[in-house]
Amino acid sequence: MNQVNVGLCGLGTVGTGVVKLLQNHADEIKYKVGSEIQIKKILVNDIKKKRDVVIQPEWLTDNPEELVSNPDLDIIIEVMGGIEDTNLLLEKAIRNQKHIVTANKDLMAVHGQKLLRLAKENNCDILYDASVAGGIPIIRSLTEGLASDRIQKIMGIVNGTTNYILTKMTDEQLAFEPVLKEAQELGFAEADPTSDVDGLDAARKMTLLANLAFKMEIGLDDVEVSGIRTISQEDITFATSLGYTIKLIGIASSHNGKAEVSVEPTLLPKDHPLALVKNEFNAVYVYGEAVGETMFYGPGAGSMPTATAVVSDLMDVVKNIRLGITGNEYIIPQYEKQLKENNE
Ligand code: NAP
Ligand code: HSE
Repeated sequence: MNQVNVGLCGLGTVGTGVVKLLQNHADEIKYKVGSEIQIKKILVNDIKKKRDVVIQPEWLTDNPEELVSNPDLDIIIEVMGGIEDTNLLLEKAIRNQKHIVTANKDLMAVHGQKLLRLAKENNCDILYDASVAGGIPIIRSLTEGLASDRIQKIMGIVNGTTNYILTKMTDEQLAFEPVLKEAQELGFAEADPTSDVDGLDAARKMTLLANLAFKMEIGLDDVEVSGIRTISQEDITFATSLGYTIKLIGIASSHNGKAEVSVEPTLLPKDHPLALVKNEFNAVYVYGEAVGETMFYGPGAGSMPTATAVVSDLMDVVKNIRLGITGNEYIIPQYEKQLKENNE
C-alpha cells in the first residue's frame, strides 16, 4: 500500500495541528510507516471560515457522507467533538470499513466499548491515545509498555484547563473568569468549558484509564466528581499560607476486584511532585504490582501536543494495515459478557 487516504473530521485546535504535523513531518512519517499519508477530505461546520493552515479548498466539506461513505478513504480521524451524532457518524464509517483515530474522550467514555466491539467485528482499528492527557502517551503506556503488569493505582492531573486556572490563581493571584477565558483562547478548554471546570472531563479520562488499567467497566455514574468552581482566592491564599497547593486530582484504585474512581480538588504539600505540575501540563502517576511507581508528565492539551498523539495513532493504524493485523482492539471482558447476556 503506497498511499493511505485519510478523512479528517474537524479543523479546529487539534485538527489544524494534525494537518500541520502531517505536512511538517511528512518525510519522517513516510519513512517510519512505509506509506504516504494523504488527507483527502476535511469535515467542518463552516467551509467559508478562514483557516490557519495550508489546505486545498476542495478538501473541505460540510457533508459527513463525503467522508464516512467515501470508498477512497481508508482512515477517519475524528477531532470535532460531540457524542451522539459523532457516534452515529463513526458507527457508519466503521461499517464502511474505515479505521478510526479519535481524540474524543466524551465519546469514548460513553460509547467506547460499543465502538471497539463494532470495530473488531469489522476488522477495523479504533485508537484513542489523544483522548487522555494530550501529548502524554498514557493510554499507549498502559496498553503496551505496562501491559505485563497488574496496575493497582492511577493518580494525577488530567485536565489542562483547570490546572491552568489553578496555577494562575495561585502564582499570579488572577481571578477565575478571565483565566478561564484565556484557557479558551489558547484552545485548551472544551467547546463547553463546564465539563472542564466541573470535573466531568477529568472524570471521563479517569474512567477510560481505570477501565483499561483494571480491565473493568466502570461507568461515569460510579465516579465521585467535584470541580473547581467553588475554589475561591481566599481558599488558595489560606492553603498557600499553610504550605499547600490546591490541584484537581483524579484517583483510580483497584483492590480485591473492586475499583474506585474519584476526581476532586485536593490539598497537596507544595513540594509534592503533582503540586509542581503547572499551567496546562498534566501528570499521571501509575503504580503497578511489578514495576512499582512510574510517573508520566507533559502537555495535557493544546494543538501540537494533542496532534502528536493523534498522528502517532494514525501511524500505528497504517502499520497495522500494512501488516494485516487490524481489528485487534481490547474489549473489556465484562462488557462482552453483558452483551452476550442481553442477546440471549
Ligand atoms: P475545536 O477547536 O472546537 O474544533 C472543532 C472542529 O470540528 C471545527 O473545525 C469545527 O468546524 C468542526 N466541527 C464541530 N462540530 C462539527 C459538526 N457537527 N460537523 C462538522 N464539523 C464540526 O475543538 P478541538 O479543541 O480541536 O477539540 C476537538 C476534539 O479533540 C474534542 O473531542 C476535544 O475534546 C478533543 N481534544 C481536544 C484537546 C485540546 O487541547 N483542544 C486535547 C485533547 C482532546 P468549524 O471550524 O467550521 O467550526
Ligand atoms: N479540555 C481538555 C483539557 C483538553 O483542558 O484537558 C484536553 O483533553
